[in-house]
Amino acid sequence: MSEDDREIGVGVIGAGWLGDVHVRAWARLRHHYPDLPVTARFVAVADSVPTALAGAQRKHGFATAYADWRDLLADPRVDVVSVTAPNALHREIGVAVAEAGKHLWIEKPVGLSPADAEAVADAVGAAGVQGTVGFNYRAVPAVARLRDLVAGGAIGTPTHARVVLLSDYAAHPLALLTWRYTLASGGHGVLGDLASHAVDLTRFVLGDLERLVAETAVFVSERPRVPEGAATYGHALGGDGDPTGTVENEDFVSALARTRSGVLVSLECSRVAVGEQNHYAVEVHGTHGLVSWDFRTQGELLLSAGDRFVDQPTQRVLVGTESGDLGRFQPGAGNAMSYDDTKVIELAGFVRSVLSGKAEGPQLVDAVASAQALDAMVRSAAGAGWVDVPRLRA
Ligand SMILES: NC(=O)c1ccc[n+]([C@@H]2O[C@H](COP(=O)([O-])OP(=O)(O)OC[C@H]3O[C@@H](n4cnc5c(N)ncnc54)[C@H](O)[C@@H]3O)[C@@H](O)[C@H]2O)c1
Repeated sequence: MSEDDREIGVGVIGAGWLGDVHVRAWARLRHHYPDLPVTARFVAVADSVPTALAGAQRKHGFATAYADWRDLLADPRVDVVSVTAPNALHREIGVAVAEAGKHLWIEKPVGLSPADAEAVADAVGAAGVQGTVGFNYRAVPAVARLRDLVAGGAIGTPTHARVVLLSDYAAHPLALLTWRYTLASGGHGVLGDLASHAVDLTRFVLGDLERLVAETAVFVSERPRVPEGAATYGHALGGDGDPTGTVENEDFVSALARTRSGVLVSLECSRVAVGEQNHYAVEVHGTHGLVSWDFRTQGELLLSAGDRFVDQPTQRVLVGTESGDLGRFQPGAGNAMSYDDTKVIELAGFVRSVLSGKAEGPQLVDAVASAQALDAMVRSAAGAGWVDVPRLRA
């Protein structure tokens, strides 16, 4: 630690997968952003499951573990808080973090509804703290390049696009009926899990949505109940013939949306897509070409640009250090980055916003916009047909 470094006390609420990813990002921040004048102290972690607390303390050396997140917020050593607890807790915890005067790094989708995301946005605004939301696919250097190519006219005027997030994490029909599958604790299933990212990527590249029509489906309607006393997190399997319960939220959503600039976008997300593992992709067509990106080959784009219209070649572009923050991680194009790296980039933006007082990166307003689009999808699929996506408040 240099004498000029500002010491930042880190608190984490929810020591599951993303809690771990957030702490790992803090641990690696200086490796990639040595110019940021901060030293992180892992002050406290909160989780309702004792083994999760013990694991986080052993792995990351948190000074204190709290069973109740409210105690973490009362700890004066904590300056910034990661909220990586399940979605249904985001509103209460997010509002409380801001009211405690601490900066907030909160995972998407920020609650279960537009009202939840707005409540957290309002609390952050009223407290004058910084708030960053975990829409980390924006941080991928190739996504930044794709956005620049589209904005710079490389493919002409954008006409139509496709954003898909297809995965198999809930595909096994014996996966236990955990919190993930109920409306009260899991919200709208794949909408909050994956479509929240799809909407954010669409907005990041093509701007706000104006209208949409959607259809949703539940393909695995019954799942084995969680046995008495068993962990309710993760993706553990039950047995064939075990007592089952009803899945209350969406496995699949497909939407056709029109952006405010007139681009037609097809969004498709599934949590039960057998054979698909993290197939997260953006494809934008324009009057003169095409540019596309797939998370599984996150350092490259496919680009077709020119004036041939027909039989116009599509080339593979390995993005280099001119794109986003790639140069913070790798010396040049063709060197793979990881999922975790996107979180380090997101964290760097959060830290810069804390130091400067100026918002940077995905904000609470983006969580509100995403939640509004998801809510429009739910209303449309329930029979409303084409629905307007509300304009963001000024
Ligand atoms: N940005 C991304 O790419 C991404 C990816 C996965 C998950 N997420 C989001 O991160 C959040 C967490 O997801 P996850 O996959 O890490 O889930 P997880 O189930 O692995 O972890 C959640 C943790 O929260 C803890 N928890 C539950 N109730 C609590 C309480 N009252 N107080 C404190 N802790 C409590 C659980 O014990 C568990 O350890 C969700 O909002 C999810 O949508 C984001």
